[in-house]
Amino acid sequence: MKGIILHGGYGTRLRPLTYSDVKQLLPIAGKPISEYALENLIDLGIKEINIVIGSVGGDDVKNYYGNGSKWHVNISYTYQEKPLGIAHAIGMCKDFVGNDKFVVYLGDNFLQNGISEMFHSFKECDTLLALTEVSNPSQFGIAEVQGNRITRLMEKPEIPKSNLAITGVYFLSNAIFESIDRLKPSTRGEYEITEALQDQITRGYNVSFSIVKGWFKDTGTVDDFLECNRLVLDKLPENGLIPTLSGIASGRLSLPDDLKITKNSSILGPCYIGKGTTIDNSYIGPFSSIGSNCVIKNAEITDSVIMDGVNIDFSSRYHIRGSIVGPNASITTSNNSSKTLKVIVGRDSKLEVD
Ligand code: TTP
Repeated sequence: MKGIILHGGYGTRLRPLTYSDVKQLLPIAGKPISEYALENLIDLGIKEINIVIGSVGGDDVKNYYGNGSKWHVNISYTYQEKPLGIAHAIGMCKDFVGNDKFVVYLGDNFLQNGISEMFHSFKECDTLLALTEVSNPSQFGIAEVQGNRITRLMEKPEIPKSNLAITGVYFLSNAIFESIDRLKPSTRGEYEITEALQDQITRGYNVSFSIVKGWFKDTGTVDDFLECNRLVLDKLPENGLIPTLSGIASGRLSLPDDLKITKNSSILGPCYIGKGTTIDNSYIGPFSSIGSNCVIKNAEITDSVIMDGVNIDFSSRYHIRGSIVGPNASITTSNNSSKTLKVIVGRDSKLEVD
């Protein structure tokens, strides 16, 4: 059994963050989203993993995961020059897969309870998809099922016959490559995985499914990314409290030993703070993920992801909420600041002043 994690795509819905950073490496609680996927694969005992990288941040992905020795697995890379579709990305891994069965994990997808249970069901079929119940099926790829088999896959059906959406985890055999080879680009110019899977059904392969237990999140938009952050932080255990912080910090916390914090600051979990960060005269509130080596001064932060090396320095206590701040960004107001903002904001940025 082998594993593949996709890190291609342009991530247009997460711009401007994805102009400079690859979305699968965006951190939640101090860890790239795709590292949670990697851990899920390792939990299955998989040792051979291929990562598909694209033109956005491919070198960053290689630098982060290296040859996999940090996780005691072998990681190799496949370069997909253009994001021609999930099926195209998988098709490029044919040599890596050889005659093995394999699991593909979209690197921006997150399953609360991992994939071990599905793996056990996969042993009895050719293909197994992780399905999740949704309330708005006409916006998803939907599976129609009978017994334990999938009978039909429909992309965004107008009149859905089921509410079971396909997630980003596919357990496959190398028979999928024949189906991928037969694909033509869709109207949006991509080689669609749904069509390749439908071809497997049509040709009589046993395509089965497992319903995801717990929550599933595709983190491809700002709202979904922040919701995933909330869901992950919500799972933090009620501990992590450094004794000297008693009275200052409470709730479900993951705090570093070297946190520098002033007495007039407070922290209310669930929240995560990375190493080397300074919190000065500030309130870090529920559902905040703060990266390493940040300086947060005179700020209130809730429901936000602040990445590594960020400097926030306000003249009076401004509140940041529902926000994502990219690595090494600086947000400041001057000492005598009035209600005037001086900004240099890149294309597709969002700035909301409440
Ligand atoms: P998407 O989120 O469907 O596409 P995208 O990453 O280009 O984002 P956007 O729609 O915002 O522009 O991709 C799902 C996953 O598959 C994601 O982890 C990226 C990966 N992927 C590839 O590796 N190669 C591809 O050709 C495509 C289209 C996606």
